[in-house]
Amino acid sequence: MNSYETVLRKAAEKFRRTAEMAGQEGILPYKSADGKWITSPYDGNSWWTGGFWPGLMWQLFALTGDAFFEQEARRAEEMLCGEFRSFRYLNHDVGFMYLLSTGADYKLTGNEQARQDTLHAASLLMGRFNPVGYIRAWNHPDHVGYAIIDCMMNLSLLFWATRQTGDPRFANVARIHADMTRREFVRPDGSVSHIIELDPTSGARIGEHPGQGYGPGSSWSRGQAWGLYGFTLAAINTEDTKYLETACRIADYFIANIRPDGLTDCDFRQPAEPERVDNMAGAIAACGLLELAKAAGKPEYEQAACRLLDGIIRQCCDFSDRLCGLLTKCTASYHDDGAGQETNITYGDYFFVEALAKLNHTDPMLWR
Ligand code: GLY
Repeated sequence: MNSYETVLRKAAEKFRRTAEMAGQEGILPYKSADGKWITSPYDGNSWWTGGFWPGLMWQLFALTGDAFFEQEARRAEEMLCGEFRSFRYLNHDVGFMYLLSTGADYKLTGNEQARQDTLHAASLLMGRFNPVGYIRAWNHPDHVGYAIIDCMMNLSLLFWATRQTGDPRFANVARIHADMTRREFVRPDGSVSHIIELDPTSGARIGEHPGQGYGPGSSWSRGQAWGLYGFTLAAINTEDTKYLETACRIADYFIANIRPDGLTDCDFRQPAEPERVDNMAGAIAACGLLELAKAAGKPEYEQAACRLLDGIIRQCCDFSDRLCGLLTKCTASYHDDGAGQETNITYGDYFFVEALAKLNHTDPMLWR
């Protein structure tokens, strides 16, 4: 067993113990602290992070075949499907939410209802498309023209829906949004903006807004990671070399900013003090780099992914039962927004496990 497989199996053992607590409490975990699972701070189970818990359970089911993980994933999936009915808070992040829950269920077990639920989510994402050229991100009435870099990950749901149904509308919309993102978000040095506002009537650019990074014009590392992995997935889904070229440009910029200890600053342009780390960005980027290494035929991207994972494994994995989750130093936003700073957050655990599974050749590739 190589060292990545050892860490992966230790992670599976830990979640086999701690996931039972989530089931007993009947909750969807968002983060953990003081030996407890904690639910999302906003929008109940409709918050964008809801799919990472079932996604983690499906990853561990794919690794171990243990029916416990399947059961726990289905428990969470049912909660998420309940959100279709309330609908109010669902936004473009249905890609994150349902690819990793119902989509994963269909992929791993052939559950036909789960396939229908995933198509339902894809139709909701299509409903957010503004034909002037972008998918609307959020629901606030002041955000009608907002598009955000994170959406590159949600596009995978649309590519999936076209493959499932034979209807090119879904993939066409994904391409239009990806082309807008290349044009408006990706800067010449390979860094990306978090939020771009477009005129919802004409599609013209209005301007950039600061988001979860340090400030205007800065470089929020998780946004870089979403761009890196998102354009890689767009390239894999379309075989279009322009997306591959964009993914490589973002990857090169990300790699140039990896800290000597392998951890990832929350913003690549943040001041030296205070130190603020976001290991989720590192774990997401590692997943993207591992896929990009294959798609672009560049083994140096795999080496960079291993530097990120080694840094996390050496310094920021807590296998004790003091913490229900695994990764420490995960930061939702540079400026505290109540969603957690330098703590354990479920999507850090999800992407860390996904990256290890890729290196272990057991990743079921839930984004396709
Ligand atoms: N909104 C997605 C993120 O916080 O990364």
